[in-house]
Amino acid sequence: MSEASTETAPLPPPAHIAIIMDGNGRWAKARGLPRVAGHQRGVEALRGVVEAGQEMGIDYLTLYAFSSENWKRPPREVDDLMGLLRLYLRRELRELHCNGVRIRFIGEWRLLAPDIVKLIEDAEETTTLNTGLTLIIAVNYGSHREIVEASKQIAAAVADGNMELDDIDEAIFAQHLHTDGIPDPDLVIRTSGEQRLSNFLLWQAGYAELVFMDVLWPDFNKQSLQQAVDEFHQRERRYGASSG
Ligand code: FPP
Repeated sequence: MSEASTETAPLPPPAHIAIIMDGNGRWAKARGLPRVAGHQRGVEALRGVVEAGQEMGIDYLTLYAFSSENWKRPPREVDDLMGLLRLYLRRELRELHCNGVRIRFIGEWRLLAPDIVKLIEDAEETTTLNTGLTLIIAVNYGSHREIVEASKQIAAAVADGNMELDDIDEAIFAQHLHTDGIPDPDLVIRTSGEQRLSNFLLWQAGYAELVFMDVLWPDFNKQSLQQAVDEFHQRERRYGASSG
């Protein structure tokens, strides 16, 4: 028997990883830089993670770029974040498309500036037939609102006689969320040491493994992603042992 055949096969990566990218402000502050510098480095980290996700063979990667609560930040910072989103879409679309990445947005992104809405529509349309990594960017996203909106749509369907009350189940409810058609995340990572979900994928992450890491988002790299995936696999293995 050859040496290679005795090696255990590497565990498959989680199909869907979602990340709360936190700590840009603290990264900048620690260096005496303006917050925007942290967000700029955050975009670099984001690029690296998309690349790492493709290399690892992850099917879905969801990134929390701007929450519905982030509007409470100073207008200047909101402008900076929107500017970075614009730049990212303008600069990266072609390469993402060439690499077979499918881009989807969740959240109330249609309420953003018209030029950003156009860029998002272009990105989604251009990449719609791609079969590589699906990159889901959450912008102006908040789970509470998403769940309320889903409830309203379902209530309206019942009121209009298009749905029976007894037809409502988890699958029907999930079809009315922004993530319709996307499998639930297996792993949710939050950086910067904070340990909360902050209104992110509350329904969808019901069974996800949660990994909280001390690293600030601009410092998050391929090794950090691998570390989180290793932690995910360890938990899975423990679960297998105790339930067997
Ligand atoms: C949290 O750091 C991060 C954000 C609110 C935004 C994340 C955005 C990016 C990485 C860049 C923009 C995204 C795209 C898709 C181009 P924080 O500011 O809350 O950090 P702090 O908690 O240390 O203050």
